[in-house]
Amino acid sequence: MTKILLETLKGNPGDRVPFWYMRQAGRYLPEYREVRATTSSFMEFCYSPDKAAEVTLQPIRRYGMDGAILFADILVVPDGLGQKVWFETGHGPKLTPVNNQETYDNLSFKNFHDKVGAVYQTIAKLKHMLPSDVTLLGFAGAPWTVATYMIEGAGSKDHAAARQLGYRDSELFNKLLDLLVDATAAYLIRQIEAGADAVQIFDSWSAALPASAFEDWVIKPTRAIVEKVKAVYPETPIIGFPRLSGAALPAFVDATGVNAVSLDTGVPLSWAADTVQQKVCVQGNLDPHLVVAGGERMICEAEYILETLSGGAHVFNLGHGFVPETPPENVAQLSAFVKNYRR
Ligand code: CP3
Repeated sequence: MTKILLETLKGNPGDRVPFWYMRQAGRYLPEYREVRATTSSFMEFCYSPDKAAEVTLQPIRRYGMDGAILFADILVVPDGLGQKVWFETGHGPKLTPVNNQETYDNLSFKNFHDKVGAVYQTIAKLKHMLPSDVTLLGFAGAPWTVATYMIEGAGSKDHAAARQLGYRDSELFNKLLDLLVDATAAYLIRQIEAGADAVQIFDSWSAALPASAFEDWVIKPTRAIVEKVKAVYPETPIIGFPRLSGAALPAFVDATGVNAVSLDTGVPLSWAADTVQQKVCVQGNLDPHLVVAGGERMICEAEYILETLSGGAHVFNLGHGFVPETPPENVAQLSAFVKNYRR
C-alpha cells in the first residue's frame, strides 16, 4: 500500500493531504497517562520498547494519522553520551550542565548505541505493528537545541547559558556541536536502519539568533547531519524544523538540503508558498492552542492552511506540539476534517 505521507515528503503529492501532529502521543490522551503511570522515570519510559511502541500507536488507533512518530525524547542523545538526564514533574528536564572543558571531557560516544539501543528496538517493533500505509517517523533534536539543554542543565527562556558559552568559548562550544553532529547522524542512521521511513530534526529554539550564529549553530550542523545521513540513505526524507527562524527560513532550506520543512505557527503561509514550498515539501502550521479552543475557528484556520498550501507538497501538522490540556474530541474533529479535504 502507498504511504502517502512518505510520497508527499518526497515531493509527490496526491489528492489527499497527509497529516500527523507533533506531540501526538502524550499527556492529552488518557490512555497515554495510563501507560506512563507504570514507569516513574521518563527516560526509563523512553527506553521501554513495549511501552514506547504502545504509546506511539495510541493516537493512530484513535485518529488514523498518516504518520506515527517514534515515542522517545530529544534528550536521549545527551543521555547516550553519558550526561545525566532526568525529568522532575512540573519542572521539565534536568541535566548535569556541560559548560567547561572538564564537564565536556566526561561525554563519550563510546557506549552510545548500547545506551540508546532500546529506541532502535522500539522502531523495529513498530515496523511490524503499524498498518502498511502509515509512515514511521524517527527524530532527533538539532545540535543547537540539544546543546541549550546540555549547557543550561534545564530548559530556559532565552538560552542565555548556551549563547554566552558560544560567544565566550567558541572552541569548546564548537567541539560540543561537532560531537552532537556525529552522535545525531549516527543515531538517525540507526533509526532508519531499524525501520524509520523518514526523520525529523527538531530545532525548537532556533529563534532570534543573530545571522552569524544562525549560520554557525543552526544551518551548518544541520547541513552536516543531512550530508552524513544522505551518504548512507539518500532516499530517506529529512524534515527540518528551525522553529521561529522567520526570514531565515529560505536560507535554511537552501543550505541544509532538507527534503521538507516544518513551519511554526507564525510563518505567513502565502510567503511560505511562494518561497520555500517551490523547493521542498512544507509541513504545518496550525496553532496548537486552536485545538484547545476547538470549534468553528479551528476548522476555519485548518481550511485556510489547506487552501493556501494547495499548490505544492504539503503535510498538515501543527506549528508546535499539542499541549496537555488539548481535548481529545477536538483532535478527532480536526483529523476528520483534514482527512476528508481534497485538493
Ligand atoms: O508524539 C511525539 O511527538 C513523540 C514524542 C516526543 C516527545 N518529545 C515526548 C515527550 C518528541 C518528538 C519530543 C521532542 C522534544 N522533547 C522536543 C522538541 C519538540 C518541541 O516540543 O519543541 C523538546 C524541546 C523536548 C524536551 C522535552 N521533553 C521537554 C521540554 C519536555 C516537557 C517537560 C514537561 O514536563 O512538560 C519533555 C518531556 C516529554 N517528552 C513528554 C512527552 C510526551 C511529557 C513528559 C511525560 O509524559 O511525563
